[in-house]
Amino acid sequence: MSKPRVGVLISGRGSNMMSLIEAAAAPDFPAEIGCVISNRPDAHGVVRAQAANIPTRIVDHKAYEDRSSFDAALDEALTEEQIDVVCLAGFMRLLTRALVMKWTGRMINIHPALLPSFKGLNTHERALAEGVKIHGCTVHFVTPEMDVGPILIQAAVPVLEDDTPGSLGARVLEQEHLVYPQALRMVCEGRARLENGRVVIDGFEMAPPPLVVPPLG
Ligand code: GRF
Repeated sequence: MSKPRVGVLISGRGSNMMSLIEAAAAPDFPAEIGCVISNRPDAHGVVRAQAANIPTRIVDHKAYEDRSSFDAALDEALTEEQIDVVCLAGFMRLLTRALVMKWTGRMINIHPALLPSFKGLNTHERALAEGVKIHGCTVHFVTPEMDVGPILIQAAVPVLEDDTPGSLGARVLEQEHLVYPQALRMVCEGRARLENGRVVIDGFEMAPPPLVVPPLG
């Protein structure tokens, strides 16, 4: 039986995309990366995907007059590439309700914060400004409202006294690269499903990500 085909949507450097490509290179991974689509022609991730021999496409949002026509072009590209599951990996465009609804349960996103805290942009700056002691990342199913969908997996990291947005972001990114492939695996194995707006996971037995409490004393 052929493996589900994953389409990875990017806008930038593509480090999460690379973590998915590298994970999917393992013979026992339950999915193959069918295509990488960027809305930015100059995204560094496109070069990285090409170097990894993954088919790439550019669907430049600037070439479309509104969100609906851009999303229609995206959907057409995903259909032509026979994509079964979509991973948003640093994809910086809001998607229309119509597109998201079409892909319900088959489209996931990674967000650099422990949702529902810090939706949106500049999450590391905001976490530092709020003085939180634990920060992290979340992989969730995509729903029409931004950064809100049912949560598949999260990883937490400590916030240290001398952290900058850069140092904290790097600590979180390390965890992103671990949990995104795990989440994709669970979805493609059919072990993680959406039921009544929540995620149900069969046989949840993987090692927990490193949950770290604030340093004491
Ligand atoms: C990541 O921090 C991801 O969580 C967020 O955007 C960033 C993309 O980085 N959605 P990269 O392109 O995967 O390196």
